[in-house]
Amino acid sequence: MLVNSKEMLLKAKKEHYAVPHFNINNLEWTKYILEEMQHLQKPVILGVSEGAIKYMGGYTVVSSMVKALLQDLNITIDVCLHLDHGSSIESCKKAVDAGFTSVMIDASKYNLEENIKITKEVVDYAHLKDVTVEAEIGHIGGSEDGVSGNNTNAKLEECIYLVEKTNIDSLSPALGSVHGLYKGQPNLDFKTMKEINESIKIPLVLHGGTGIPDYQLQKAIECGISKININTELQIAWHNDIKQFILKNENIYDPRKVISSGENKIKETIDNKVKEFKTK
Ligand code: 13P
Repeated sequence: MLVNSKEMLLKAKKEHYAVPHFNINNLEWTKYILEEMQHLQKPVILGVSEGAIKYMGGYTVVSSMVKALLQDLNITIDVCLHLDHGSSIESCKKAVDAGFTSVMIDASKYNLEENIKITKEVVDYAHLKDVTVEAEIGHIGGSEDGVSGNNTNAKLEECIYLVEKTNIDSLSPALGSVHGLYKGQPNLDFKTMKEINESIKIPLVLHGGTGIPDYQLQKAIECGISKININTELQIAWHNDIKQFILKNENIYDPRKVISSGENKIKETIDNKVKEFKTK
């Protein structure tokens, strides 16, 4: 069933586990994730970046595809369709109008007051349609930034203030994680993570889940993380297998065979993440 993220994340916060957010890139990935999560009988968040939306053809294409797969594959678990890193109010509104059940407004590049203003406008629009909203504070860098590159960690007082002023449903505070691969060990600020969790009632989100060792993920969950975003790890898993397949089968050009040669690895990675996140 297509749902917003509210109940699934509040339950995760209360029972100390994390709901996986897997980014989708095409029909096949969406299908593999849904099939595997249905098999495991766990809730899932399908994250879609603006780039992936553009690649797949648009907001309505993505929303219609997900709804159709839920129907035709008889998916009965809770599934949330979430805009990942919405960069503008317009983008979030488009996702809401197209039938997404959750949006992230990432106004973290602006100063705090501007971030609040933009986020609040998205919340006011989204909540009218029962769509949940995630916001970001501080700055989560990309792999190109390295571990201690241009990340700016979130500050406790600012997190409390933003949550109070915007009425968001979940918060992504930048606390040392990065998108993509880490150079060396991730250096997460667990102390601030715990303080934020104890000071606000809404669930916390950890971006940049790829490459964070299991013991750190466990610690993050203990410190109150209720949703963990994974993108690169699925891409690498899929790419490793597809590369082998192409090298071994030079004459197989049927795209169904080529693309699906990464299916098992994607599903195996999903299984591992669900175990690590202790998803219920
Ligand atoms: P990774 O690509 O590092 O897994 O991060 C995913 C993410 O945070 C998407 O928002």
